[in-house]
Amino acid sequence: LAMAALTKAVALAPDKWIPGSTPDPLIRKQNGHVGKPLSRLDGPLKVAGQARFSAEVALPNMAYAAIVHADTPKGRIASLDTAAAEAVPGVVLVMTHRNAPRMNPMPVFMSAAKAAGPDALPILQDDRIHWSGQPVAVVVAETQEIADEAAGLIAATFKEEPAVTAFAAARAKGTQQGSFMAQPLRNEIGDAEKTLAAAHFRIDARYTTPRHNHNAIELHALTCEWQDDGVLRIHDTTQMVAQEAWTIGRVFGLSEDKVVVTSPFVGGGFGGKGLWQHQACAAAAAKLAKRPVRLMLSRESVYRIVGGRAPTDQRVALGATAEGKLTALIHTGLTAKSPASPMPEPFILPTRSAYAAETMLLDVKTVEIESLSNTFMRAPGEAVGTFALECAIDELAEVAGIDPIELRLRNEPEKDPVSGLPFSGRHLDAAYRMAAEKFGWDRRSPTPRAQREGEWWVGMGCATGTYPYYRMPGGAARITLTAEGAKIDIAAHEMGMGTATAATQVAADRLGLSPEAIAFNYGDSTLPGTVMAGGSQQTASIGASIVAAHRALVAELVKLAGNDSPIAGAKPDELSCRDAGLCRADDEAAYESYASILARANRPSVSAEASPPLPLEMMHWSMHSHAAMFAEVRVNAVTGEVRVSRFLGSFDCGRILNPKTAASQFRGGIIMGLGLALMEETQFDERKGRVMNASLAEYHLPVHLDVPDIEVIWTDIPDPHTPMGARGIGEIGITGTGAAVANAIYNAIGKRVRDLPITLDKLL
Ligand code: MOS
Repeated sequence: LAMAALTKAVALAPDKWIPGSTPDPLIRKQNGHVGKPLSRLDGPLKVAGQARFSAEVALPNMAYAAIVHADTPKGRIASLDTAAAEAVPGVVLVMTHRNAPRMNPMPVFMSAAKAAGPDALPILQDDRIHWSGQPVAVVVAETQEIADEAAGLIAATFKEEPAVTAFAAARAKGTQQGSFMAQPLRNEIGDAEKTLAAAHFRIDARYTTPRHNHNAIELHALTCEWQDDGVLRIHDTTQMVAQEAWTIGRVFGLSEDKVVVTSPFVGGGFGGKGLWQHQACAAAAAKLAKRPVRLMLSRESVYRIVGGRAPTDQRVALGATAEGKLTALIHTGLTAKSPASPMPEPFILPTRSAYAAETMLLDVKTVEIESLSNTFMRAPGEAVGTFALECAIDELAEVAGIDPIELRLRNEPEKDPVSGLPFSGRHLDAAYRMAAEKFGWDRRSPTPRAQREGEWWVGMGCATGTYPYYRMPGGAARITLTAEGAKIDIAAHEMGMGTATAATQVAADRLGLSPEAIAFNYGDSTLPGTVMAGGSQQTASIGASIVAAHRALVAELVKLAGNDSPIAGAKPDELSCRDAGLCRADDEAAYESYASILARANRPSVSAEASPPLPLEMMHWSMHSHAAMFAEVRVNAVTGEVRVSRFLGSFDCGRILNPKTAASQFRGGIIMGLGLALMEETQFDERKGRVMNASLAEYHLPVHLDVPDIEVIWTDIPDPHTPMGARGIGEIGITGTGAAVANAIYNAIGKRVRDLPITLDKLL
């Protein structure tokens, strides 16, 4: 939808201003805040325990909810006995499909501008079961303990219907063309199969990756209330306040101004903190109980209700000349999705712009498995797509006898091989060179089993990480200026990644104010803007909105300044901001402070709201962040245990707005990548379509002892075509990391594992 809107806009206005295409006059004067390692502004509140998360909002007369799940993948409720639960003292009510208020299905993500539903399945409206884990009852009680106890007393039986829950059975039923953001996941350049068959060197391999579940440390939780003024107020933990307000409004037949969603703190999201059935269930329960309700999912309920990454079965085949130039690049395969989910795992996305191959065949097919709807999970597509692609490149390097870095650099494309567009900025070669030197790549033996320390084989590997630059249209911002400072209002999100801090730095630079003089307000659906935290694009989108609002504000200030000001009559483009005021760009002495302008105009404040131009830059350039990932691993010769002993990520993501928060983002992504490589795996019961390891005890994630010191470096070369010169940094850390670890394991012991996670049983 967004792409269709963009295409139309470009056709209508090909010459319109494109962010970054010309220097922005209002930022000629740099005030030195961007690029500083400012500590997170939300840090002290969190350390002191004063940050109030959504499950900590206390409302008068509040009740607590717990959910009962179906444990069959498809069928009907045969019996649902709630009497024992209702008899527990302190139980307020039990809500099932028999007494739930009327709820419309959620408009599905991409079906409308602010639609954010994971699927359009009914929510407690009938006796049909669509996935194992579907809510069938919600208990509301005076305390959480009573709600949990009563939920355990609800006896449900199901009349099962035949369901496709195994990958092989789903494949036998037939495959469909995968698509992502309304674009088919298929690209073809020349005849890749024929070219492959004739290639001097070739590899052809199959890589498989499992399901992954979302495990943000903060559980999904909301506290909600139907206020006397008819407003449904939801305190939630979400990556999309504006979209949630609109979509929940549709569920209850309310206009979006009758739903207010606030989300000041989010304890991790990664794509999982979107809309699921639990928000609608809690709001419905509050309506039925006529009381505020808090619903915090148990960890198990998160596994049952919140979708994750779908499994993939990928083929990568590479053909190359004797010199290692790629002639054929084939990346195809299958992913599973639920019948109701619009979201396949788009694993070919990173391959589209990765290498200059003469011929290409990229294709994602999907099969349907009756299960919980899958969704976005940090770098959907790229996280597992780069595992397959970058392992294959390593395999080709060995076959061709070429150093893996050299092989990659020989195949650097000059322009995007699929779209034909020039790159907005691509310095992967620089990222590799600086990383190779720092990591000591010259100490690596190209031959496996060359280095051993006691029981441990030691190996090194590298891989390319990549994630696209995106910017979402529609993100207005409002700036309100007083003599004391400025307030920025935008319905954005802070999930702990430093968004509010970086945005404050950007605003400080533009306004010529100190960061302390700026209040950045976000996480509230009543604020302007519709930007969601996702796709590693929030910071660029916020930045573009601040730029737009600031330009409008400067125009207002010039009007207020009038004829007696040193800046009288100036056009906004002829002005700079410094020292809490405006000056002429070509004459810094011609200056007037904001306080003086406001005082003379007899105004306490001035405010401006504006939206940035459509993200046309995405139509003109191929825009991607890149990284060179380096791993050193030790593999125990006796037990097969793997230890990552060193890791270095070298990033080319444009200008780094805040090195402190950026380093943390990069490291966090890499840690998630280590989990992807070695541990994470949803154990999915293919007979019953049920997640078997629905707890952090059995779903393995890296803990402190699994994580070495991770060094992160970056090129810091501004992208001339993005707002602020920055590209995304939130998701790229998880990309390339899995392949770097797998390639290092191969280098250590000469064993190639193409099936994630690389657990010790696969190495013995
Ligand atoms: Mo991310 S998977 O776009 O939150």
